[in-house]
Amino acid sequence: MGNCLNSSSAKVDATLSSRTSGMSKVGSKISSSSGPSSTTISTYSGGSSSIDSVSTPRSEGEVLSSSNLKPFSFMELKNATRNFRPDSLLGEGGFGYVFKGWIDELTHLATKPGSGMAIAVKKLKPEGFQGHKEWLTEVTYLSQLHHPNLVKLIGYCSEGHNRLLVYEYMPKGSLENHLFRKGPQPLPWATRLKVAIGAARGLAFLHDAKDQIIYRDFKASNILLDADFNAKLSDFGLAKAGPTGDKTHVSTQVMGTHGYAAPEYVATGRLTAKSDVYSFGVVLLELLSGRRAVDKGKVGVEQDLVDWTKPYLGDKRKLFRIMDTRLEGQYPQKGAYTAATLASQCLNKEPKARPRMSEILASLEELQDAKNASKDHRTLSSPVPRSPVGHHRQRRSTPTASPLPTPRQSTSQVR
Ligand SMILES: Nc1ncnc2c1ncn2[C@@H]1O[C@H](COP(=O)(O)OP(=O)(O)OP(=O)(O)O)[C@@H](O)[C@H]1O
Ligand SMILES: [Mg+2]
Repeated sequence: MGNCLNSSSAKVDATLSSRTSGMSKVGSKISSSSGPSSTTISTYSGGSSSIDSVSTPRSEGEVLSSSNLKPFSFMELKNATRNFRPDSLLGEGGFGYVFKGWIDELTHLATKPGSGMAIAVKKLKPEGFQGHKEWLTEVTYLSQLHHPNLVKLIGYCSEGHNRLLVYEYMPKGSLENHLFRKGPQPLPWATRLKVAIGAARGLAFLHDAKDQIIYRDFKASNILLDADFNAKLSDFGLAKAGPTGDKTHVSTQVMGTHGYAAPEYVATGRLTAKSDVYSFGVVLLELLSGRRAVDKGKVGVEQDLVDWTKPYLGDKRKLFRIMDTRLEGQYPQKGAYTAATLASQCLNKEPKARPRMSEILASLEELQDAKNASKDHRTLSSPVPRSPVGHHRQRRSTPTASPLPTPRQSTSQVR
């Protein structure tokens, strides 16, 4: 959530000047076009989830009073994070800073570090309306959506101008940290597949709900990992109710993150679940290549992961050229090729030709079942052990949200 910028990825506010001329550069969002409307969601049959109904009352008071979340006072969260100490900092996004804290599981009162339950506290930057709107959208959705592949929102703080969110702590941080930051031990192939499957389950759950939800911000930094590398989607600030009745899409202000956002959505503002599928394809490419969706540090076509990888995805013999060198060749050729083919289908220019998340999930699960990872190794050299990683504290090194001039010009958020 929020507007994070870093050198390769930044969120940008953008609105459509017209349906034909594409996006214009704006710094603020249109309040009437984003944010969820009222939805009712039935329980998803494909997993241990619980959605009864997601209703999105209009006012903050209604949202908060109808939620089953714990309301925290600012003082309680200050105590839980030891006054938002810099050494509690887990990361920074466009929304604000995220701190690690500790609370008692039953009373939810602040405890000493290391005792009770670890939490992640996201503190909204006092920057105005849009951050607050996303905060409320996140509370609205996450207070009512429960699934093993969605991060758990424990509570919130709304006191004066302070807006905070309290989540379960995810010990391995974000996928982004593991794939792109120096230091962390490279994720083995089997773990990459596991993460892709977990994230696919989260998206399939949202898309297959009776009243569909489009996530709109699928990217490596929003995939959080628990101690066993189970993936959970975080950041529901941009989530949007899917089309209803005989509508094929929802028309919205263009929001998301460049490099991940589907080109037809960026060009027209027409949002469908297939926009999330495109973003999933980009993350699959990141998992295969270990490279960011957009990397301004590279030259020419290599700056754009989708463009750069395109010629290699359908060619079994050339695929190794785009594979993450940090895998040291330790991946099943067949499995990698299947994943690359899947990515290529997700990235189809024609949204209708992209597979559904449930189909993608089934293909990935098949790959995992085939146990390709252990049987079909193409070993070039033995893996080099690297220093172990925990959850590294991060400050953003990439720019955040600012208006996005043209699609794909930078990697920032389209917001
Ligand atoms: N529940 C959590 N547990 C552990 N770490 C977390 C949790 N939530 C966020 N973080 C850490 O904080 C970082 C910043 O998160 P945040 O969602 O604010 O920004 P982001 O996802 O990097 O960017 P954006 O604002 O574009 O979503 C994450 O990348 C992650 O490392
Ligand atoms: Mg995030």
